[in-house]
Amino acid sequence: MSSRGFFASLLLAGSSCIVAGCSEPPGPTGTNPEELYLHHCAKCHARAGEPGGPNLGGSKGPDLSHIGSATGMTVDWLTEYISNPQSKRPDVRVMPAFNTKMTPEQIKALAEWLAAKK
Ligand code: HEC
Repeated sequence: MSSRGFFASLLLAGSSCIVAGCSEPPGPTGTNPEELYLHHCAKCHARAGEPGGPNLGGSKGPDLSHIGSATGMTVDWLTEYISNPQSKRPDVRVMPAFNTKMTPEQIKALAEWLAAKK
């Protein structure tokens, strides 16, 4: 490798830290809902046979495998709930707000995917 190539790759490694932040492993950057779910949600909402699989264990959140059939759980409601759960239900204690962790496009993609789970 030329020394120029070496410095260019150092620069790349450094800038990805600035963009994604070094404290947390970088999450998916696209809008693939399954990848987003696995990265952001499965550790609390995983179920056997569901994204995340049984070996992620410890399902603290409610089962979301038929969430689209629940009354009132529309794409819009889910989008707002995932962005900031307390805006919809002031009594929520554990479910984190994701408006600082995902882009609006990512949250929308996830909400559409969940709403289709009937
Ligand atoms: C730290 C654990 C945790 C994570 C991470 C988490 N949730 Fe939750 N979620 C909960 C808990 C617990 C509740 C029940 C409400 C409460 O008391 O917080 C909940 C409630 C919900 C509900 C309402 C379900 C219902 O039947 O009322 C939805 C929808 C939901 N979460 C979606 C998601 C999505 C989508 C993600 C990923 C972007 C996610 N959650 C990430 C713990 C989590």
